[in-house]
Amino acid sequence: MIDRSSDDGDGSLVGREADIKRLGVFLAGIPRHGGSLALVGEPGVGKTALLAAVAQEAAAMGMLVLHAVGVQYRAQASYGALRQLLTSVPEIHSRAARVPALAGALGFERGAAPGHDVVAEAVVALASDLGDIPAFLVLDDAQWLDRASAFVLGQVARRLPGTGMGLVCAIRLGEEGFFDHSGLPLHELGPLSEAASDELLRRRFPALASRVRRRLIADAEGNPLALLELPAALTESQRTASQALPKRIPLTQRLQSTFASRIRTLPPATRHLLLVAALEGSGNMLVVRRAVAGRCSLKHLASAERMQLVHVDDTSGRLAFRHSLIRSAVVDLSTSDQRRNVHRALAEAWIKVPEQRAWHLAQAAVEPDEQIAALLEEAADVSACRGDGPNAVAALVRAAELSPTGSAYARRLAKAAYVGANLTGDVRDVPRLLDDVRQAAPDAESPAVAVAAALYLLNSYGDIDTAHRLLSGAIALQPEPYDLDDATLLEALSTLLMVCVHGGRRALWSDFDTALSKCTSVPDTLHLLRATFADPARARPADWDRLDAAIQALPGTSDPVRIVRIATSGAYADRLGEMEEPLRLTARGGLSGQNIFPAIQASFLWSSHAWFTGQWPELRQVAQQGLRWCEELDYPLRSWTGKFVLACVYAVCGDYPAARGYADQMDQWAGSRRGHAVGCYAAHARTLIALSQGDFEEAYQHAGKITPPGTFAPFAGHALWAILDQVEAAVRTGRREKAADHVRAARDAGLEAVSPRLNMVLLASAALAAESDDEAARGLGEVLAVQGAERWPFDHARIQLYHGERLRRGKAPAQARKYLSAAAETFGRLGAHPWTERANKELRACGIPTPARTLPGGPALTPQQWEIARLAATGLTNKQIGKRLLLSPRTVSTHLYQLFPKLGITSRAALRDALEQMDRP
Ligand SMILES: Nc1ncnc2c1ncn2[C@@H]1O[C@H](COP(=O)(O)OP(=O)(O)OP(=O)(O)O)[C@@H](O)[C@H]1O
Ligand SMILES: [Mg+2]
Repeated sequence: MIDRSSDDGDGSLVGREADIKRLGVFLAGIPRHGGSLALVGEPGVGKTALLAAVAQEAAAMGMLVLHAVGVQYRAQASYGALRQLLTSVPEIHSRAARVPALAGALGFERGAAPGHDVVAEAVVALASDLGDIPAFLVLDDAQWLDRASAFVLGQVARRLPGTGMGLVCAIRLGEEGFFDHSGLPLHELGPLSEAASDELLRRRFPALASRVRRRLIADAEGNPLALLELPAALTESQRTASQALPKRIPLTQRLQSTFASRIRTLPPATRHLLLVAALEGSGNMLVVRRAVAGRCSLKHLASAERMQLVHVDDTSGRLAFRHSLIRSAVVDLSTSDQRRNVHRALAEAWIKVPEQRAWHLAQAAVEPDEQIAALLEEAADVSACRGDGPNAVAALVRAAELSPTGSAYARRLAKAAYVGANLTGDVRDVPRLLDDVRQAAPDAESPAVAVAAALYLLNSYGDIDTAHRLLSGAIALQPEPYDLDDATLLEALSTLLMVCVHGGRRALWSDFDTALSKCTSVPDTLHLLRATFADPARARPADWDRLDAAIQALPGTSDPVRIVRIATSGAYADRLGEMEEPLRLTARGGLSGQNIFPAIQASFLWSSHAWFTGQWPELRQVAQQGLRWCEELDYPLRSWTGKFVLACVYAVCGDYPAARGYADQMDQWAGSRRGHAVGCYAAHARTLIALSQGDFEEAYQHAGKITPPGTFAPFAGHALWAILDQVEAAVRTGRREKAADHVRAARDAGLEAVSPRLNMVLLASAALAAESDDEAARGLGEVLAVQGAERWPFDHARIQLYHGERLRRGKAPAQARKYLSAAAETFGRLGAHPWTERANKELRACGIPTPARTLPGGPALTPQQWEIARLAATGLTNKQIGKRLLLSPRTVSTHLYQLFPKLGITSRAALRDALEQMDRP
């Protein structure tokens, strides 16, 4: 039973029986079901009082109660409320500090804050890891949660049903905030009945004349705060009805003026102290004390405490206003000059926390001030590195407003535009921001403007040449040598590099290389993108070492842009497996709608890794999610990598119309824009379609468009992914010499040392190009004997197929069968039906009757069900499977439930045997 005593312990909650009953039912269901509830209502209606009663009951039921309150005037404090929530209970605090995703987000450690989605997941995981104790999260004034906490806690709230944990939040009606409570069950807290109002007044103000009581009941409209505060504002003679009551005025305003009149009676020192506390927001006494030093001290709080305006929480030691309307009253009573002075004092008090300092200074400033603008820009960079894109943009826009010169204004606004475009994915705002830039500084030639405009042009129209002109023009205007400590200039060069990759032409690259040669020093991301991504066939051993060092240092990096840049640098060199975790985290960051640009790139980078490692069902999901984002945000340019990887899978699985559809789209886009990179994707997809169909001449022609056989054309990085395809097509069309030339060129470029996969591909290619079948069989056999070659199942099965073919032709059918069956099995498992059929054809030629189709369960089992079954058979739990396949454990369980009858089994234990039987040809 919920205790009905009100929060001040003075009397009990009056007239809330029905609400208490509803909340009691909600609470009782938590240990078994879990869930969230939003309490909404007018200011003063009693949300906080009811929350306190609920929290007390939850604690009495044995739940661990975590508490946080949103604070007006503090919306820019990244993760302030989440920090409060997780530090409200010491054991949770110490555990949170050990979870990397939380330690970074909450600032326990510098860096290492992944996307909001990941933080939300970490919060749920942390709260669910308390043994048998259910966690209960209480959020008051959720309309004022800071933006990052609001996103995370909104997600947490939606994830709780089914977890055995609970969350209740109070939200003021009619206040706009960042916390999105859509989808949560609502409980609207209405006014007290007349009878309840009457009881409350009688209890708390027994001496009121009944006429006055009636008037107050009518005035208060069932609002308990009004019922309690309005009488306190009456004079003794008004209370006893010997004097008329003041005129009716709107309730909230009236309440606030009641508080205001009390505040006015306080000594100036106390009022100053209250203003500092109101604008500080978090109740941190240390900061308040520092900020008031020289003018007053904490002892001046006493009169405000006596007047019940503020109190100091005994356990947390924090200063709290009795009611948020008191805080607004304090702020409203101050002059703008006083507020600015307080912000200045708070900035000094926060001297060691540059972000807080910058924001307070920004609020203290009336005049443009370069120093403050620069500080705010630094704060924006910190936010961007923490993955809080929207906060970074807000800080930059404010920094622009505070910039004293037109060019600084233009540069910062343009930087806001490109941070927005590059991180939050909001390309739509870019033209508006750039318009402002142009009006402010018509001649601004800042690289930031060029970057923003180039990103916009690329992402929306794919206009490679104009983007190139803009960027190289802006860079050329910079004083030499170029200093890449200037983040904007670095961004301009990085963007120019991507433009060159898309254009592929040498002329474009020569401008880039000229610019690079004028730099004092080149940071690793830029160097690596140029060396190991743009032109990997010409990268030197030192470049590969530098890449590996950068990859090793990646855990602990939270900057999503850096993660995707390093991953891109390692993509052609098969390094993505070493970066799976950061890539997954970055990709999932997009689910919360934050940092969506890097999330799209990370999804596709991970997908290309999944292509080589045979994780195709998961690949389809992740890449399709990325494509949905591209579509929602209208980013054709970003979609091509995802479409390319999907086209590869569709091609080798025999879904030719789908693969061809994507290739046609790519050619169409690339053709008019001279988009070399996308053209290569299309050519490679067509090569795989033709190979899968057995049309080797056509495959040879398409592969030649990526790079002519026997060469690795400059800036044709993609050629590293197509070596085996190109060699197979050449050999099967009687161009053995061309195939051998290609292998030689790859070896001259040192590609076999770049990665074990490339080494395997090159050994296999060399064997395929051998003069005799015997020699080829020997070579292929050696490749297959190398340990770990099966890590790349599709390539590996192809090599087994080639080996089997050569052995069969060399009159060793028994040996051939072994390799062909193994190849057929792998192709079958991957769903690469045309390739299964090719292996089966060879098996038939060895005298083996055509085996049944090896996809287990035939058409009855979808590829996803097959993947789930396979993982379940290895002993993974539904939760672990769900994590791998980005599905909820419940979806996994539904799939298993559906596939058991298809496999003719009734339990998980029988899965492995059932799958083995189906696998056997
Ligand atoms: N049913 C009740 N019986 C007695 N006192 C109540 C009741 N409901 C609220 N109060 C008292 O009324 C005052 C205002 O309530 P409370 O602070 O809970 O309002 P609120 O809805 O949280 O307002 P806000 O939106 O401004 O945060 C408090 O002093 C509280 O103790
Ligand atoms: Mg409240």
